[in-house]
Amino acid sequence: MPRKTNGVGVQAEDAQICVVMVGLPARGKSYIAQKAQRYLRWLSIPARTFNVGNYRRTDAPQPTADFFDMNNAEGERKRRAAAEAAVADMLQWFKSGGVVGILDATNSTKERRQWVMDTISKEGIEVIFVESKCDDEALIMGNIRDVKTTSPDYKGQDPETAALDFRNRIRNYEKIYKSINEDGDENDYTYLKVMDVGKQVIINRIQDYLQSRIVYYLINLHIRPRSVWLSRHGESMLNLEGRIGGDAALSYRGEEYARKLPDLVRQSVGDDRPLTVWTSTLKRTIATARHLPKHYNQLQWKALDELDAGVCDGLTYQEIKDRYPDDFAARDDDKYNYRYRGGESYRDVVIRLEPIIMELERSEDILIISHQAVIRCIYAYFMQKDQEDSPWLPVPLHTLIKLTPRAYGTDEEKTSANIKAVSTWRGKGSTAKHEDPVPEGGI
Ligand code: ATP
Ligand code: F6P
Repeated sequence: MPRKTNGVGVQAEDAQICVVMVGLPARGKSYIAQKAQRYLRWLSIPARTFNVGNYRRTDAPQPTADFFDMNNAEGERKRRAAAEAAVADMLQWFKSGGVVGILDATNSTKERRQWVMDTISKEGIEVIFVESKCDDEALIMGNIRDVKTTSPDYKGQDPETAALDFRNRIRNYEKIYKSINEDGDENDYTYLKVMDVGKQVIINRIQDYLQSRIVYYLINLHIRPRSVWLSRHGESMLNLEGRIGGDAALSYRGEEYARKLPDLVRQSVGDDRPLTVWTSTLKRTIATARHLPKHYNQLQWKALDELDAGVCDGLTYQEIKDRYPDDFAARDDDKYNYRYRGGESYRDVVIRLEPIIMELERSEDILIISHQAVIRCIYAYFMQKDQEDSPWLPVPLHTLIKLTPRAYGTDEEKTSANIKAVSTWRGKGSTAKHEDPVPEGGI
């Protein structure tokens, strides 16, 4: 099925890829699968995870460890059936235009991997194995307590008993587990082996652009605790006039926000944590950051500049509607894809933000001071917002947003500086200078 080019290199003739997770239980396979899926979807690459555990649960909702014993014929049969059902659904999904399918299972034996390889490559789909290997017992026990004792497998059960059972489940897997290419006879496979959460990686036979992109993303992931703070610049002189774009100075209230920001940040970050501050190259974000403590590293990124409104830069929405009525309507119709004449679309902004996301994944605590459209796109990445919704998210001025990545999602905390500012949010069809009130439900 033909696929549209999306600006990041995926085109009709490009490969479809099946990412096959490999590893013992509680090694972060689902975590990695979810992150890869979120990243690819954010880049408009159709991606979907097929979790074999979910398929297995229809037939064996709450199995104890002995279900996973290789000598348990009934268990073997059900596990095999679950894997077959997941692969069958995945192949169907590829037929309907899927680009990156992720098979989330342990795939811990050579036989299973051979079967997956044969079944999937037969359909002309590239296979890349991604193994997470980790022998840090304390980390594994932490993973079990964090995510396994609350899994549907142990619903209603005592967490300590559940943790013990899960440990025994792992022991059963350990009896048959073969790390990929451990015996040197899986040399022909394309694979990425991540050891001890990225301390060491092995990359074998990566073939094309999309594969290398996925691999590059995955080797940048870490699981050290950290947060990302997002703020728009303080209110600007052009905000007051309801004009978009430009490179204006801060308003009186915007200056007040800049002076208050250090306190707001200190309260949220804490005194002893090092923080790096990223701004755009525009005056209003640099001015907003200028009272922050000198020991915070500061970096300006062109990629964090506001969405370029092209010929509409500096206009009010009413002026845009008067001068370019068709464009005004087209933007409301499909705000994510609409590209200003001589300027950018939200889709364009996402593409230029990709290096920012990559760097964010590699980094620890970061404060980003940027602009409405850019913050919407970064927020959409962390909070998995749909493309149709992200350009409409309300991101109020004078508000600090703290995002903290967790095992399977992102926590969010919002702190208002309690300094009045105009609203720059605009509803569909509206040309109001300042829309008030802004609807609930966004950021
Ligand atoms: P299962 O086989 O039971 O489905 P799993 O391997 O999919 O287990 P996850 O459910 O993804 O394991 O485990 C999530 C936990 O793994 C999180 O607490 C996360 O911090 C941690 N984690 C993420 N990446 C890694 C990694 N590379 N190595 C070890 N742990 C990791
Ligand atoms: O905990 C291991 C697990 O995630 C189970 O929930 C699931 O049944 C199994 O892995 C799927 O992988 P495989 O079928 O390769 O054992």
